[in-house]
Amino acid sequence: MTMKRVDPGVEVAAMPVPDMANLPNDLAPAVKFSAPTDEDMASVAALRSSSEPWKSRGETVEDSLKALTALRPFVHVAKVQNQVVGYVTVERDGPVPGAAYMRNIVVRPELRRRGLGMAVLNQALQVARDMFRKTIALRVDPANAPAVSFYRNAGFTTVATVVSKKSGKLRLLMSREL
Ligand SMILES: CC(C)(COP(=O)(O)OP(=O)(O)OC[C@H]1O[C@@H](n2cnc3c(N)ncnc32)[C@H](O)[C@@H]1OP(=O)(O)O)[C@@H](O)C(=O)NCCC(=O)NCCS
Repeated sequence: MTMKRVDPGVEVAAMPVPDMANLPNDLAPAVKFSAPTDEDMASVAALRSSSEPWKSRGETVEDSLKALTALRPFVHVAKVQNQVVGYVTVERDGPVPGAAYMRNIVVRPELRRRGLGMAVLNQALQVARDMFRKTIALRVDPANAPAVSFYRNAGFTTVATVVSKKSGKLRLLMSREL
């Protein structure tokens, strides 16, 4: 099997399994955010390619790394005890004029439903406020039920339904005030 070379500076490695026994029970207060290192980029690419909705779309880890490398200035990595537990991307501009845009938010599958998603989202909201934005928007596949409930729970409402240029599929455009 030949491996596609994406960025000679970054090796696409398997995501190391977090040492669950050593992680605190209450994860949200333990999470720290930073800009990604090259090593983190490999971890977030592995996380994205193994998570819905990208997994079902057949996105490879190399595809994920390529997409995330283009988004690197907007990537914020969440770590607990120095292990990558999730990431979020926040751009100043997106599909809603004047609103910041959250393109990706992902938490490690084995650590979901423990409040980490909300902690990562709160960081994204703060990043958007620091960009002097008053609103943040996102697009989500209506079939991605966990994400839709997560966003509704976090105060996002649907402002429009749009057709994805890439897939031709329907997406919800959601936003909330900051
Ligand atoms: C969406 C996602 C980031 C949520 O992360 P998480 O760490 O599980 O979120 P939290 O534990 O903070 O959940 C907060 C609330 O959101 C809602 N929620 C989260 N996951 C849910 C699910 N699977 N089903 C229903 N509601 C859900 C619940 O109301 C939850 O509160 P509760 O656990 O007290 O009931 C995570 O499911 C994920 O990484 N999904 C894959 C990637 C993805 O689809 N991203 C969005 C599109 S880019």
